[in-house]
Amino acid sequence: MPHFSTTEQKRNAATAAVEYVENKMVVGLGTGSTVEFALRLLSQRVKQGLHITGVPSSLATARLARRLRIPLVPDDGAFKKIDLTIDGADEVDPKLHLIKGGGGALTREKIVAARSDRVIIIVDEKKLVPQLGKLPLPVEVLPFGWQSTAALLRTLGARIQVRQNEDKIFRSDNGNIILDCHFRRITDAPALAAQIKSIAGVVEVGLFIRLADLVIVGKKEGGVAGLWAA
Ligand code: 5RP
Repeated sequence: MPHFSTTEQKRNAATAAVEYVENKMVVGLGTGSTVEFALRLLSQRVKQGLHITGVPSSLATARLARRLRIPLVPDDGAFKKIDLTIDGADEVDPKLHLIKGGGGALTREKIVAARSDRVIIIVDEKKLVPQLGKLPLPVEVLPFGWQSTAALLRTLGARIQVRQNEDKIFRSDNGNIILDCHFRRITDAPALAAQIKSIAGVVEVGLFIRLADLVIVGKKEGGVAGLWAA
């Protein structure tokens, strides 16, 4: 049986997702290496005459989209409704709850997803997990009082790593700090998301609950599988 690499799985998932994009749509553009394939494919369709307006979920995506000549909203504070968002994920569980934020863009990604009529998540097969939490859960926090915010996250059972960029503390596009919270096993993702969101100082949590409508998985044996939200 042929074995498709992770890169090929990502490309196949992105190819399938881009087929859902229609003329005149406002399209939320996620962040990460899988989304990069989608951006390149969208760029080709734009060259062939597709009219869309993109809402980028990070400065990196905005830069790439501009290079690829994908039209973007002129003012990223002024978009209202997004027709369709395409984004990646770090982990996907059987209920289609997600961990996101591996690239540090979770807050903008969540705003974009939450404002979207439909959200398509594109992943390679190894992102599917029976239970979230093997990977650390990114939590974006305000720099003000961040160590006390981290202490409160520890009381929820997390081991905390402050995300670094080389030897400096990483700053998100919003100027905030990302705390990577190692829970190992997340048994009740909606409850944990609510608990973390209720801590003063937390800007956003990388648990995406009931936001994905469709997860497109690039398969090891080739092709894709679609997982629809119940
Ligand atoms: C960025 C994200 C990404 O979507 C997630 O990390 C997946 O990235 P990749 O497609 O590179 O595996 O949430 O904040």
